[in-house]
Amino acid sequence: MNTLKNDLFLRACKREKIERTPIWIMRQAGRYLPEYRAVRKKADFLTMCKTPELAAEVTLQPIDLIGVDAAIIFSDILVIPEAMGMHLEMHEGRGPVFPSPIRTLEDLNNLKTIDPFADLNYVLDAVSLTKRELNDRVPLIGFSGSPWTLLTYMVEGSGSKNFANVKKMIYNNPSLAHAILEKLSSAISVYLSAKIEAGANAVQIFDTWGGILSQDDYQEFSLQYVEKIISEITRKDEPVIYFPKGVHSNLDKLANCGADVLGLDWTMDLGKVRSEVGDKVALQGNMDPTVLYGTDEVIKKNALKTLKSFGNGSGHVFNLGHGILPDIPPSNAKALVNFIKENSQQFHS
Ligand code: CP3
Repeated sequence: MNTLKNDLFLRACKREKIERTPIWIMRQAGRYLPEYRAVRKKADFLTMCKTPELAAEVTLQPIDLIGVDAAIIFSDILVIPEAMGMHLEMHEGRGPVFPSPIRTLEDLNNLKTIDPFADLNYVLDAVSLTKRELNDRVPLIGFSGSPWTLLTYMVEGSGSKNFANVKKMIYNNPSLAHAILEKLSSAISVYLSAKIEAGANAVQIFDTWGGILSQDDYQEFSLQYVEKIISEITRKDEPVIYFPKGVHSNLDKLANCGADVLGLDWTMDLGKVRSEVGDKVALQGNMDPTVLYGTDEVIKKNALKTLKSFGNGSGHVFNLGHGILPDIPPSNAKALVNFIKENSQQFHS
């Protein structure tokens, strides 16, 4: 039974009637909050991920401090390759690094086949603890990277400019790429199902690097695996959100991939996408994250523009088009949340 005090986010995902538009912010538990940095000072990033009490603490921070309508569990997409045995380092300023990336069949054979219930039990413990501490105030979102986006980090070893190594793999050794993607897909569907069982009310699949592929390659190396995962997730009515950043093609396929909600980045036209996908899926997004560098007036103007672009009726979850940046003043994030809470009723009369 749904006992949530605020279930606007879940109702918007299902396109049910709501009183106002819900809002949460990708990367809302993060370095832009001084309270996050205070916890981070005491523990390195992976220790935070692996300590349920710390993960729960920072997950709740944006609920208490910013007032968002959903929590997203503090973790990272790279915990899956880490659990498979890849040593992961977080470098200040450079982001995540795998010092020994996978390039060969032998590397693949050295990857452990994981059981998320055992190997990622610390994430599941963090989900259950966070659920308890949330006390039904707002829904909790679980997440994973898409197989393709995980593959890019596993093969490149870090963030990349032109993704030469992973592109070499899909063109010169596609069967190796597919074998790794298969292995990741199986782990991800079990992992997301386990998060739902542990208490997540919705799950989001981040496909941050879907947009670097040509249309056909995107279908072959990313979307088909996402479809498979969504069809395999064990769930009751927990929505699945798919965020294919930078993907401008295949809108019809995206709308039919099995996701309940499509996340859009800020380069997409929300209203136009809505008119093309009709009532097949709800939409999430998509204000440019850098608008939050602006004045109150700029933030309000652009937030209203985003609301208007979607237009009237349910099926819109307000969010940024990508994660909030680490140097955004928290007061600006709060101003955005308050504005949506106070000005979105007019779209639901
Ligand atoms: O959204 C949330 O608040 C939940 C937590 C969350 C994190 N990472 C915490 C994090 C989520 C949902 C992610 C997803 C993630 N991680 C993605 C997909 C979303 C996206 O932004 O595209 C990707 C590509 C990663 C991999 C990753 N982890 C990168 C590229 C970085 C470095 C960039 C950065 O922001 O520092 C991380 C580290 C990371 N993940 C931090 C946080 C709060 C910062 C680490 C720190 O405290 O030093």
